[in-house]
Amino acid sequence: MNILIIGNGGREHALAWKIKQSPQCDKLYVAPGNPGTAQVAENVAIHADDFAKLGQFCLDKAIDLVVVGPEAPLVKGIRDFFEADPKLSGILMVGPGKIGAQLEGSKDFSKQFMVRNNIPTAKARTFQAQDLEQAFDYIATCKPPIVLKADGLAAGKGVIISLSQAEAKAVIKEMLVNKKFGEASAKVLIEEFLNGIELSVFVLTDGKDYVILPEAKDYKRIGDGDTGPNTGGMGAVSPVVFATRAFMKRVEDEVVKPTIEGLRKDGIDYKGFIFVGLMNVGGTPYVIEYNARMGDPETQAVMPRIKSDFLDLLVAAAKGTLKGKTIEIDEQHAVTIALVSGGYPGEYEKGKVIRGLHPDHSRALVFHAGTKQHQEHVVTEGGRVLAISGKGNSLNEAREKAYETAGKIEWDGLYFRKDIGQDLLNYKV
Ligand code: AMP
Ligand code: GLY
Repeated sequence: MNILIIGNGGREHALAWKIKQSPQCDKLYVAPGNPGTAQVAENVAIHADDFAKLGQFCLDKAIDLVVVGPEAPLVKGIRDFFEADPKLSGILMVGPGKIGAQLEGSKDFSKQFMVRNNIPTAKARTFQAQDLEQAFDYIATCKPPIVLKADGLAAGKGVIISLSQAEAKAVIKEMLVNKKFGEASAKVLIEEFLNGIELSVFVLTDGKDYVILPEAKDYKRIGDGDTGPNTGGMGAVSPVVFATRAFMKRVEDEVVKPTIEGLRKDGIDYKGFIFVGLMNVGGTPYVIEYNARMGDPETQAVMPRIKSDFLDLLVAAAKGTLKGKTIEIDEQHAVTIALVSGGYPGEYEKGKVIRGLHPDHSRALVFHAGTKQHQEHVVTEGGRVLAISGKGNSLNEAREKAYETAGKIEWDGLYFRKDIGQDLLNYKV
């Protein structure tokens, strides 16, 4: 079958790499893709939110399946666009419609969904600009740290944790009244702080049945030892030692099943990924957030651990035939390191020539994120430039392979964390 992946990051390169291995995969395209996806697929110069052009491309190339990588086109309604057009409605798609994508697109929507379905999550209240006085009164009753969340998509920057009531009041005013995040902070949630360790759980569902993909731990802060500002993710590890069989059983029973059931009860025909961001609080899972897509860089650690024909599972999810399907997971460990531009997540320069890009691929996988072909060179084009995934029989071996390859790549200003997975090496469950 012919497949189109939408997106241009490391996640999409990892998805393309995995999908390409399926015997069912004929032509594989990525729109717009990057120089990494060009190694396994054909790139198509169409932007992820140009639905009309994407639709026409699908017709021209007889695309059977569309896999949507990032959240923006989902929240903007790419599925609804395809479903509304009789010529496109027969094309299979992995990715929910506009309403399902609100699980990620609106934190107020997802909080109400969790409360309604008894899914464990931090206690929260939502306020708008006209409720500022009530928000202040509520903050006066909260014990810091106090978590403030912009309701809408804010490029991963919309969560602010305040260490005092006074600071929380200043921040919420900034968000609601001064529109710090534009329309995304027209509503703000004031949320209880959860103290624990985070885990990313990935579910592929057809709206009725589901498979749970390998879990991962993301490293969000820029600096070693989880210091400095938040980023899109500086590395990932899979499996995760504290995601024990018993813990994952609780996640499945207390989070995954009620989530799928809740979507069904609400009449939301959800076909795609649900990325559950969890906090493990003393062995109890709490949902921090849902995303309507896979994680980045988690996908780059998760895909190498899937043994099954992933395309077969994607098609089943898109068709509604996941019932009875299982997923075979490699017991080996994967460690992914994000190589980023100097200055990221703040300002950084682009266009630096990347050297050492062709290391021994039996030692680690090199996924492209923010790269660009410039004449005969591949140059940096984004904050997160490459993701290196090592695999091994132990966490240690996977780390060594990933770091060995990362150490052979160079460009002016290159930075990466040196401690991905280190906290889990001696973790006592
Ligand atoms: P989100 O955008 O919802 O994933 O939040 C970004 C980050 O803020 C999360 O990855 C957590 O590290 C942190 N965070 C969000 N909500 C909470 C909470 N209720 N308690 C503690 N940390 C939180
Ligand atoms: N790495 C976290 C995310 O993709 O949202």
